[in-house]
Amino acid sequence: MKTMYDFYTLDSKEYQQVDTLIPSIKRTVSDENDLHQTALHASQDMPRSLRAMFAEFRGEHLGVALRVDGFEIDDSLIGATPSNTHSSLNRPIMREDIYLVLMAYCLGTPYSFASQQGGHLTQNIVPMKSVELTQLGAGSKEELVWHTEDAFSDNRPDFILLLGLRNPQSVATTVCALPPETDNEDIDALFSKNFYFLPDSDHASHLAQATGEAARAAYLRMQEILKHPIKESILFGDRERPYIRIDPHFMKFANIEDESVAAYFRLADRIDSAQQDIVINPGELLIIDNHRAVHGRRSFTARYNDRDRWLKKINVTQDFKRMREYNIHERSFAI
Ligand SMILES: [Fe+2]
Repeated sequence: MKTMYDFYTLDSKEYQQVDTLIPSIKRTVSDENDLHQTALHASQDMPRSLRAMFAEFRGEHLGVALRVDGFEIDDSLIGATPSNTHSSLNRPIMREDIYLVLMAYCLGTPYSFASQQGGHLTQNIVPMKSVELTQLGAGSKEELVWHTEDAFSDNRPDFILLLGLRNPQSVATTVCALPPETDNEDIDALFSKNFYFLPDSDHASHLAQATGEAARAAYLRMQEILKHPIKESILFGDRERPYIRIDPHFMKFANIEDESVAAYFRLADRIDSAQQDIVINPGELLIIDNHRAVHGRRSFTARYNDRDRWLKKINVTQDFKRMREYNIHERSFAI
């Protein structure tokens, strides 16, 4: 089967280049706002051929995902896998956070939602016992059904980046492009604005008790979307090369009789069978085009022993100007 993704491996010289850059940044930044500013400039010093590959990927000349290997992580230096995703304002900036932000800036502008993990720029994806049966990133026992990230939001990321820190059970992330056998009639039907996309509870519930201005504003926006959802289509853009927005657990049909509903179920079946597994091992970075692919995660049994699967995630947009009105302050990259 043809893979839906491409590879890039940092050679030893490129790895040295990155490995030298990181401590020089770490010495100068005291918080994530600093890191955001500093990484913008420092990303120009990232390996040239890596940046050329990213340009190809941004231009949609490669597959829907890109895996970058060759970054080394010393398991004895990263500490225990966090036991939860609760925000901690004093969370130290790790070497792995800096790598992720540098890579993000090679693709666009990294940013976060104020409604997720306290608006931290990089977010931890770790299993949490309290939500192990849910469709949240911190779930585990249930397969995380494929979806586009933050499908409810017009400000959803163009790319998401997932960096592996630990994955002892080789739990697979899944990725799928729009299945090639989707016929023209279904493509047309899926352009019909017959679907409501709703915020998942990860966004909605964290904000209920929020006191900060940015988080409060984000919460009111979520409430507005829940109260007055807007009809949208699953496919959009160019009919020859459509983009996709889909999230089976957090969407509703406007008119169940519409032909787009049957087309949606046919598409879901095809994605189920066409999705591919990608195990993100420590040091491997998976970049997913959030307009051309869905992603999910296979189920697993978390151990809750400080050594569970641990990924770090960051969102990237190619157009932060579009979001600026929501970027209140608190953290200059959070909306
Ligand atoms: Fe996701």
